[in-house]
Amino acid sequence: MKNIIWSTGHEIKFNDIVNSDNCYLFDTKGNRLIDLESGVWCTSVGHNNKRVNDVIVSQINKIAHTGFCYCHPQIDVTARKILEIAGINEGKCEFLCSGSEAVEYGMRIARAISSKPLALTFSDSYFGAYGDAVTKNTNQWHIFNWLECGCEKSGKGCIGECDSFKNIPFDKIGIFLFEPGSSSGLVRFPSKELITKIIDKVRENEGVIICNEITTGIGRTGKWFGYQHYDFTPDIVAIGKGVGNGYPVSATAVSSKVMERLQETNFKYSQSHQNDPLGVFVASEVIAIIEEEQLLAKSQELGHYLIQGLGKLVSEKSIVKEVRGRGLMLALELKRDAQQVYEKLLSKGFIVAKRPNAEVLRIDPALTIERQIIDLLIENLKEIFAKIE
Ligand SMILES: Cc1ncc(COP(=O)(O)O)c(C=O)c1O
Repeated sequence: MKNIIWSTGHEIKFNDIVNSDNCYLFDTKGNRLIDLESGVWCTSVGHNNKRVNDVIVSQINKIAHTGFCYCHPQIDVTARKILEIAGINEGKCEFLCSGSEAVEYGMRIARAISSKPLALTFSDSYFGAYGDAVTKNTNQWHIFNWLECGCEKSGKGCIGECDSFKNIPFDKIGIFLFEPGSSSGLVRFPSKELITKIIDKVRENEGVIICNEITTGIGRTGKWFGYQHYDFTPDIVAIGKGVGNGYPVSATAVSSKVMERLQETNFKYSQSHQNDPLGVFVASEVIAIIEEEQLLAKSQELGHYLIQGLGKLVSEKSIVKEVRGRGLMLALELKRDAQQVYEKLLSKGFIVAKRPNAEVLRIDPALTIERQIIDLLIENLKEIFAKIE
């Protein structure tokens, strides 16, 4: 029978996946795949997580959906927990449906209170499928190319001492939208020096700092949020993917300082699934699992183990250029043939991400990944590289 699935421009690799367990996916014949991309970074605590499933079943039998003015008490409980892990002492949190929506909602709030025309962001950042952040219209955005600046000799990329940094029109910038580790880019982490300088400048002008934590958040980099590696607290945090473990819930946390300014405007936002009870129960359970199973520490430890394993390949295999990562967000950069390596891995049952037009493979497994899967990956990579070389 002809396949009628169309994944909007993407090639369908499998159309018979019917079961799962943590990092494993199973097809109709019982064949096993190892998902090292955690379903596009979503299954933070593993596919088919029993605790998350039980919460969904229990809640769906009570109430899954209300309307945004008729709320379930759990919304407040989950919102408080999100503010706590985000380090925002006082504030508000809205629950939405996707990462794109969480970023867009944050940007709408920031634009509503900003008196300056421009928002600043990095050239390699990605913010989702729609809205303000996807258009990056030059009337509204200043896009800073921190990867090709004059500070390269610093050894850690841009540190804010180059002409391109000096040319950022800070007097016109009221928002900094920061992705603390580009996921759809090539997994690069800007230096602390650069971020501190930008934040100081934007804050001097009473600007708003938004962090896009859709991929870097919820433990992916070994801390709750990617910005926690930079020692500052943003005004707005957009959270998605991993917080739902595959269930479509996202959240935007907003500081009380921003909320006070927002209340002086006529800002409104309405969407059918805003603050749905089912999503907030899922988010709460995911956070509880990460806390109780100490998955932040585990993601640091296993990330380190994976980086070390991949790092050895840099010296052993001439095809491997570099390994970079933070926690369990990693990139393996090759000198050539990344597409071939990706396909060979897939034929051996490993799903990793391959960025078009770059010799980079991304590895972002569930925080619950086991060591033996990492060993198996390294073994298979060695075999593949030996054949290609
Ligand atoms: C960094 C980043 N921000 C935002 C998004 C958008 O999230 P979603 O696909 O859930 O809308 C993505 C999706 O891949 C992403 O990688």
